[in-house]
Amino acid sequence: MMNLYITWKAENEVGIPIIDEQHRGAVATINSLFYFMQQDKGMEALLPTLKVLDQYTKIHFETEEMILTQEGYPDLEAHVMIHRDLVRQMAEVMRRAVAQSDPTIVLVFLKDWWMDHINKEDKKYAAYMRAK
Ligand SMILES: [Fe+2]
Repeated sequence: MMNLYITWKAENEVGIPIIDEQHRGAVATINSLFYFMQQDKGMEALLPTLKVLDQYTKIHFETEEMILTQEGYPDLEAHVMIHRDLVRQMAEVMRRAVAQSDPTIVLVFLKDWWMDHINKEDKKYAAYMRAK
């Protein structure tokens, strides 16, 4: 039995059900890439995984940005910029992974970006909503 790359923990939750659900969905996709890498099929899984994540990320960011707009979150603009920045960084990380035939670059980047974003940036708006 192989371990998951990222183990979702209750402490990663922001307390907004649809957001937590989508975060788990993104993590599940990253875990699937890792699973394939352990089967030595990482490069095979790389493009399909990234396609799924790309589309899913659009839906997720849109969901978050809608909720933050509706809630009048004061740092909405900064948060949106961080989302846009991921999209830009992903293109570059993806290019490097393909050039070097190494999906590890994508895997590590995704884990670091998502877990850091959830636990720092997303928790900021969670705190704002709790205080409202
Ligand atoms: Fe976010």
